[in-house]
Amino acid sequence: EQLQNILQQMPKAELHIHIEGSLEPELIFELAQRNGVALAYKSVESLRNAYAFDNLQSFLDIYYAGASVLLTEQDFYDMTAAYLRRAALDNVRHAEIFFDPQTHTARGVPMHTVVDGIWRACQDGPISASLIMCFLRHLSEDEALATLEEALPLRGKIIGVGLDSSELGHPPEKFARVFERCRQLGLHLVAHAGEEGPPAYIETALDLLNVERIDHGVRCLEDPVLTKRLAREQIALTVCPLSNVKLRVFDHMGQHNLLDLLDAGLAVTINSDDPAYFGGYMNANFLAAFEALPLGLSHAHRLARNSFTASFLEPEAKRDFL
Ligand code: HPA
Ligand code: ZN
Repeated sequence: EQLQNILQQMPKAELHIHIEGSLEPELIFELAQRNGVALAYKSVESLRNAYAFDNLQSFLDIYYAGASVLLTEQDFYDMTAAYLRRAALDNVRHAEIFFDPQTHTARGVPMHTVVDGIWRACQDGPISASLIMCFLRHLSEDEALATLEEALPLRGKIIGVGLDSSELGHPPEKFARVFERCRQLGLHLVAHAGEEGPPAYIETALDLLNVERIDHGVRCLEDPVLTKRLAREQIALTVCPLSNVKLRVFDHMGQHNLLDLLDAGLAVTINSDDPAYFGGYMNANFLAAFEALPLGLSHAHRLARNSFTASFLEPEAKRDFL
């Protein structure tokens, strides 16, 4: 159908993709074999069958286990190259890629191995891409500060920082000092907030961390005052429809609040989050949302346009895409 073709063919930017979440079961098994790492699953099928989640934490447990096969710079390169090739097929023209260094440095993988592998694949890739380093919010702020120190020699390869992992019980304000330090370093700032956590976490991410975008943010509608503010300030929300259904933020796609967010005048974007785990890349997210919800051509154009407007591309590069 015509709308489907437009969704697939329109240029887009992806602003919420965890590169470790793009690791397909086939590549997990290939890297496990290459590196002599033992896996708790005996086949690609049995691993994929384990991808049934009740909430964010049940996903994170298996996502961190999958990442344990990543050891060498080449592993990080191969994972990132595979994502960029796949994103290009969906007409993603620019990606701002999250990575979780603490998942790897905790296993003894050096910071430069992680960053150089991902960064080199971005340099060689078929599309424009840049890197956002995420702090794990279930760990302490001191560990985040130590991670930032380790990354300083690689500052030129990173455009910003984010905050991910278990949201409930780990409010943004826990990371106020490290985000202030990052702001002083001229890094862009984003944070996951309002995925499983309450609207108050969105507010403290804005006011205490000074973030420029909110990752997910779908629970903002529970607070009308906050919703009006997000609309007035045009704070972008990087919404991930398939993720929200897989992690039971919404029971099914027909219940997703994407259209309500758009109707509230919010700067919504569509993204894939962890495509290898949640059943699809960028276009699968667009198609699933547009199939389940009364969305049309004007919404499609708005979502694609928002993705470039909300990106951290330089103004001239942004203009080329708009
Ligand atoms: N939320 C929090 N942490 C994450 C996610 C997410 O959707 N994906 C990978 N780490
Ligand atoms: Zn995410």
